Amino acid sequence: MTPSEPDPPPQPGDPRPRVQRDIVSFVRRSSRMNTSQLRNWDAWHDHYVVDVRRGERDTSVHPAAAVDWAATFGRVSPLVVEVGSGTGDSLIPMASARPDQDVVAFEVFGPAVASTIGRLGRAGVENVRIVMGDAIEGLTYLFPPATIEEIWIFFPDPWHKLKHHKRRLVDADLARVAHRAVMPGGLLRLATDWADYAHAMREVLDAAPGWINEHPHDGWAPRFAERPLTKYEHRGLEAGRRVHDLTYRRLP
Ligand SMILES: C[S@@+](CC[C@H](N)C(=O)[O-])C[C@H]1O[C@@H](n2cnc3c(N)ncnc32)[C@H](O)[C@@H]1O
Repeated sequence: MTPSEPDPPPQPGDPRPRVQRDIVSFVRRSSRMNTSQLRNWDAWHDHYVVDVRRGERDTSVHPAAAVDWAATFGRVSPLVVEVGSGTGDSLIPMASARPDQDVVAFEVFGPAVASTIGRLGRAGVENVRIVMGDAIEGLTYLFPPATIEEIWIFFPDPWHKLKHHKRRLVDADLARVAHRAVMPGGLLRLATDWADYAHAMREVLDAAPGWINEHPHDGWAPRFAERPLTKYEHRGLEAGRRVHDLTYRRLP
């Protein structure tokens, strides 16, 4: 198909799921990279960044995009996804601590991806790949159903103002999309230092079909021990905020 040809509309019985992304959980920022990020990009892009077919925006993943993860990683192993990996502060130590799993990270902000791949390359981490694109579309289009063992979402942008709450990443769409992609018994792990977002996450996930809170007693998970103390957690604690962890298990 040539780039000028419009994509065909979904046909009745089209087995590929669709997700509507009119409002997204990120803003367009200048994606100008500094010298060291540009150097990282040149050195490590081909190794770590998985280029996917784009949709309408440069951050979107086309509904017909596909990735063969076994070929990409060169092996078949349990898949973990991090949504919004930032500069890789959690991703790099957590993936390194799980050499038998492969981790796919989604991040929309180019300079952050460049920093991450430089750090991955210098550390020699082999079990991580990054998709520079919207994770909601990526989870929907790039994974067959029930193929992901865990999804991590740490310190997603809080979108404080009431009128911006609709931009929050953790919502009913995320719960539905994640439920399709995660295998039965698989986990969705979240953390935030914003109490109102933590409560909103619980509300959404408690109401979402097919998820069960792993810690029903008071709803909050103990701090996930594998999670390193990142700048976001540090900032929250310094400001006197409690960090809430949440773990939901996908029901069969
Ligand atoms: C506040 S930062 C947290 C980064 C990282 N998780 C950490 O704890 O250090 C949130 C990140 O999520 C990214 N993000 C937000 N929505 C996204 C989406 N739909 N798909 C991929 N990345 C997203 C943002 O670009 C940003 O880098």
